[in-house]
Amino acid sequence: MQLGLPHPIKIKKSPKKAEDFTRLPEHVAIIMDGNGRWAKNHHYSVSKGHKQGTETLREIIRHTDDLGIHSLSLYAFSTENWSRPVEEVNALMQLILDFFASEIDELDAKNVRIRILGDKSRLPEKQRTTLVLAEERTAHNTGLNLNIAINYGGRAEIVRAAQILALRAQRGELDPRTITEEDFSNCLYTAGQSDVDLLIRTSGEMRLSNFFLYQCAYAEFTFPKVLWPDFTIADYDSALESFSGRQRRFGGRQ
Ligand code: IPE
Ligand code: IPE
Ligand code: MG
Repeated sequence: MQLGLPHPIKIKKSPKKAEDFTRLPEHVAIIMDGNGRWAKNHHYSVSKGHKQGTETLREIIRHTDDLGIHSLSLYAFSTENWSRPVEEVNALMQLILDFFASEIDELDAKNVRIRILGDKSRLPEKQRTTLVLAEERTAHNTGLNLNIAINYGGRAEIVRAAQILALRAQRGELDPRTITEEDFSNCLYTAGQSDVDLLIRTSGEMRLSNFFLYQCAYAEFTFPKVLWPDFTIADYDSALESFSGRQRRFGGRQ
């Protein structure tokens, strides 16, 4: 016979504070994966999975800001995600509008600077306008750098940087032989921002899926098994804790 309570008691850990960590990353990047599997597990539509994912997103942005982390980059929609069923793509496009409508006031009030990484030209007009307005409205903010990758592909970003530099060389503005890594990074969507220190991909998949191929050169990786809609502040704190214990050598011998 089983004694005790019928349901296990879930003890909710309180969120950590910056001083609880020996070291925090300056730039965290997250591949928010697992919405589809979460929806399937709950017998919900995929769209409901993505909607639930935006709840996680809000919490994670808030906690990142509370911790005083400098930059947070989120992979929201890849150049390859257009190949999904049209209803799913439409639901994701709608979520972009809903997310900014409900969050922009708070983000701006918190001094968050929003940048959209990726090619906006392929997005529907409404989404494009919303994203440009969010970038413009927060352009002078000096708090958390919030980068949201939408219609983003790492290879496309690198090719675009090569095109920008090639055009400058063609116009005689630079000598191709003197192009530096810094010149190259300054042509990426993340121009002026530091490289990624910690990359988190939820759902247990262990791949980059065309995200931040250049910026992750020396990133530390964590692959929590939890699906994105179930990812909690405690899971995030664990990833940050794991980062703080890692020895980064950057090819040297420390
Ligand atoms: C990630 O969740 C969100 C986007 C790609 C937009 P998925 O929809 O990829 O979730 P899974 O991988 O099917 O579980
Ligand atoms: C990567 O996840 C893209 C985003 C999270 C936005 P996917 O689910 O699209 O990647 P694959 O197909 O598993 O590689
Ligand atoms: Mg996926």
